[in-house]
Amino acid sequence: IKHIGVFTSGGDSPGMNAALYAIAKSAEVNDIKVSGFLKGYEGLIDGDLIPFKSHELKKITQKGGTILKTARSKRFLELEGRKKALQTLKANKIDALIAIGGDGTFRGLLAFSEICDIPFIGIPGTIDNDISGTDYTLGFDSAVNTAIENIDKIKDTAESHNRIFIVEVMGRDSGYIAIHSGLTTGADAILIPESGKDFIYLLNKVKNYNNEEAFLVVVSEGDELGAELVASKIKEINSDVDLRITRLVHVQRGGNPSAFDRMLGIRMGVAAIESLLQGKKNVMVGISHNQLHLTSFKEVVKQHQVNNELYELLELFGK
Ligand code: F6P
Repeated sequence: IKHIGVFTSGGDSPGMNAALYAIAKSAEVNDIKVSGFLKGYEGLIDGDLIPFKSHELKKITQKGGTILKTARSKRFLELEGRKKALQTLKANKIDALIAIGGDGTFRGLLAFSEICDIPFIGIPGTIDNDISGTDYTLGFDSAVNTAIENIDKIKDTAESHNRIFIVEVMGRDSGYIAIHSGLTTGADAILIPESGKDFIYLLNKVKNYNNEEAFLVVVSEGDELGAELVASKIKEINSDVDLRITRLVHVQRGGNPSAFDRMLGIRMGVAAIESLLQGKKNVMVGISHNQLHLTSFKEVVKQHQVNNELYELLELFGK
């Protein structure tokens, strides 16, 4: 392998830059040239690429976002777009690709592998932590830390006014951010898309709520009820409540990555290069039991489940 292409795709997540730095460094040590495609699959289609140098990337390894920019490419969903991407790879003599992104990114690579047989390696980068084949995705830890920091602040004012606060956190169809940020801030109720019982726990607690203390609900954006509906259901039971809704939205995606995400990015970036050197293809680097390992894209794109231990915690604290 002489020339690797790298890109970030889907929602940006803290730790992506650390992974890019590690890829550049490890490739340099192994005498491999690296080019970065801009704006995910869009750059691949348009041939928009920049050279990668580790001494430049080390300056931004501590920063959130992605220096390569990112996008959710509609054009790559079409065969026409993928054919153009193939031409770009041939024209630039790229013999391997590393992609950092979420499940949509890996679905894209699977489709691309039908017309392009160079090796692809994936690195899971999304704040949602909703990817099979890894316990943690890049950016999840940072996003949870940001959510916690903000929820702690909301609690101060909620307690001062004896208010109910509904805080909506990100996670698309995944409740991981909600569970982690809710449990660690002492939320009274946590609502996630994967659970059918969590709303019942909330209603039971609201029935006994006396308006004489704060009450914190953390709801995942993907929950079927959503913050507004939860608020109106609470008011149906207790019309006297003083209630506010806060949405943390994209604040959770930004900011410098946590130590955990920086280190995860560095470990996964190096592992991606090593996997290519070992002849691996169409696999994602993941981490379980603090060990890096590889999972095929076919496995990765399967539905990701919240693990049972987290459900049990949700039940215990819901009582
Ligand atoms: O996948 C990451 C994520 O931040 C989700 O949590 C959220 O639903 C989505 O991206 C938001 O996407 P956009 O930035 O395109 O609004």
